[in-house]
Amino acid sequence: LRVAVLFGGRSSEHSISCATAGGVLHAIDRDRFEVIPIGITRDGAFTLEADDPSRFALDPAHMPEVVDNGTRVHWPESSTSREVTVTAADGRVTSLGDIDIVFPILHGPFGEDGTLQGLLELVGLPYVGSGVLASALGMHKHFAKTVLQGAGIAVAPWRTLTARQWAESPDAAREAFTALGAPVFVKPARAGSSVGVSKVTVEADLAAAVETALAEDDVVLIEGMVVGREVEIAVLGGRPGEPARASVAGEVVVTGRDFYDFEAKYLAAPGVDLICPADLGDERLAEMADLAIRAFEAIGAEGLARVDFFLTDDGFVINELNTMPGFTPISMFPTCWLNSGLSYPELITELIEVGYA
Ligand code: DAL
Ligand code: MG
Repeated sequence: LRVAVLFGGRSSEHSISCATAGGVLHAIDRDRFEVIPIGITRDGAFTLEADDPSRFALDPAHMPEVVDNGTRVHWPESSTSREVTVTAADGRVTSLGDIDIVFPILHGPFGEDGTLQGLLELVGLPYVGSGVLASALGMHKHFAKTVLQGAGIAVAPWRTLTARQWAESPDAAREAFTALGAPVFVKPARAGSSVGVSKVTVEADLAAAVETALAEDDVVLIEGMVVGREVEIAVLGGRPGEPARASVAGEVVVTGRDFYDFEAKYLAAPGVDLICPADLGDERLAEMADLAIRAFEAIGAEGLARVDFFLTDDGFVINELNTMPGFTPISMFPTCWLNSGLSYPELITELIEVGYA
């Protein structure tokens, strides 16, 4: 199969996407797949990239980036064609041949949120992962929680605040802070990797936290803190007619930090340990797997997702569902599958084959 691997993108998780792509380009089974790497610059230009995984290492001192090299990739001109072409920097146009499937390894808005999926639907190219609606739902914390709650899955209590409400008066935010009880988390509705997220313990810090979240999105969530273990599980969608399945669980243990923030996730900041498999016991794990698959189905996800929970004294509370989870070789999603018997290259093969099936 000829696979277009798409990475970078317009969101604040651009570099994380590049690091994920580096891992995938390195590990993908070259006997099975012919790879066409396509970068998306921060401005949204589609560029043809060199097939060189070493460019995209996740180095805290130098986060990987898609730099505009002057090439432009063009999607098929109609839904009956799968031919992708490229304009070189010197203006010459050549064909890249027919693409069988696109692997959009993109995190955040304009990649993980249904917009890119909509483009691929329009031009009629198959792709890995969730479709338009599930991607959009998974990306938007307010609507995801609404749907998951509707499906009978416990979610952390929250209030939603728009930029307009905030501009009119800080009262709604203050009321939410008081009603939910300190500490709260203030989050952009559509962002990932903890970008724009703050933990607020005293009301005096609330305004700055709301402004930080509003820099990412014009809708923010104020969430009550859930006390419990942070446990995550990976779901793989089935081929047509097959059910989704869940991996073993992993656990995020925060010791010396406020929370599992961007620095801990990607910049090797100390104070957080990832443990897999988590010590849960068979019964708890089965319950978690069942809830994760229910959540996956509730939003209509396809292909893959990582479902994050808190395990409280009263049971599991869902934190969120990520339709394109971080996917570097050390990320939780592949680690959970590795501990469930699927190696990183095998996992990539499975995702592409399920997407193509
Ligand atoms: N948004 C990041 C990549 C994750 O969920 O893993
Ligand atoms: Mg997340």
